[in-house]
Amino acid sequence: MGSTARKVSLTGIKPTGEPHLGNYVGAILPALDLADSYESMYFIADYHALTTVRDPALLRHYTRSVAATWLAAGLDPDRTTFYRQSDIPEIFELSWVLSCMSAKGLMNRAHAYKAARDRNREAGREDLDAGVNMGLFNYPVLMAVDILIVEADVVPVGRDQLQHVEYAADIAGSFNSIYGDRYKLKIPKPVVPEEGTAHTLPGTDGRKMSKSYGNTIPLFAPEAALKKVIRRITTDSVPVEAPKEPESSSVFTLLERFGDPAVVAETRARLLAGGMGWGEVKAQLTEALNERFAPMRDRYEALMASGSELDDLLAHGADKARKQTRPVLERVRDAIGIS
Ligand code: ADP
Ligand code: TRP
Repeated sequence: MGSTARKVSLTGIKPTGEPHLGNYVGAILPALDLADSYESMYFIADYHALTTVRDPALLRHYTRSVAATWLAAGLDPDRTTFYRQSDIPEIFELSWVLSCMSAKGLMNRAHAYKAARDRNREAGREDLDAGVNMGLFNYPVLMAVDILIVEADVVPVGRDQLQHVEYAADIAGSFNSIYGDRYKLKIPKPVVPEEGTAHTLPGTDGRKMSKSYGNTIPLFAPEAALKKVIRRITTDSVPVEAPKEPESSSVFTLLERFGDPAVVAETRARLLAGGMGWGEVKAQLTEALNERFAPMRDRYEALMASGSELDDLLAHGADKARKQTRPVLERVRDAIGIS
């Protein structure tokens, strides 16, 4: 492909939990923005989730839930190729091929694998690989394949995934150094939010909102459930009359992100002056989130219903994706001498 050809943006979303507000702000919105300037290919990395999700009903649920979330958030399936990783057999064939070109030492240094070993070390276990499956160890190779098989130019990811995109470039380089005169894989570039400008949303306990902390606000919780989660947001116990530091609770930080600017300004002033309780701010936040997300929630629920168009949309996306992945795999097979 020449330099004036299509520029592809690709990202994968691992279906390991219910999507939350942090995912929306930190991953979904930025990726949807890129769809204006790139040919975008976004997929549900369901086989990546298998390294941790071992309940079949749950894996199916998260996969549909993540797909429905992206569609409800505005992903246009006509403009974006939107598919499930497991529907693309070429990925798994290329995964074997590229694991034969990937240095084991590179995988030894991968963050997730090193973190698993560190946890074993801290727990005093003799076997530092205890509980590590080959899926976790090979994770970066499969991710490299996701990227290389569609000849992606850019890969929008969170900072924690930067190393994986660098590995993809490295693995492509190893392939190219052997077979480059017959076929060259395209070297991808990561796109990460700039340090400091990345809007990291706090969760209900004030730490970064994350599934692993159990402090998330789900994107599409029904109103009653939303109220309950918001009520749990940690605040200080300063009496209603006393002045309060707005930023001392994530309830205000979240309101700032999702509320009407006039309401936010007034609330800030009233908190600083004293006489406003956190309960009232929580009610404002519930209202703001409800207003912003209720229409999307309706669309999400319609897509989640059995018999909705969700499965057809994903099947159609897989057909479109395979138009890219089949020829790449064929060229690789030809280059390595398998036909
Ligand atoms: P979690 O921390 O809940 O497990 P993931 O690691 O699956 O979330 O993150 C998926 C995407 O959402 C990543 O691109 C990540 O940068 C983004 N993201 C997750 N939590 C937040 C947050 N609190 N604020 C902003 N972006 C976030
Ligand atoms: N590893 C990514 C995560 O944990 C998900 C992912 C899988 C991905 N394949 C990808 C992201 C390819 C970008 C490109 O969030």
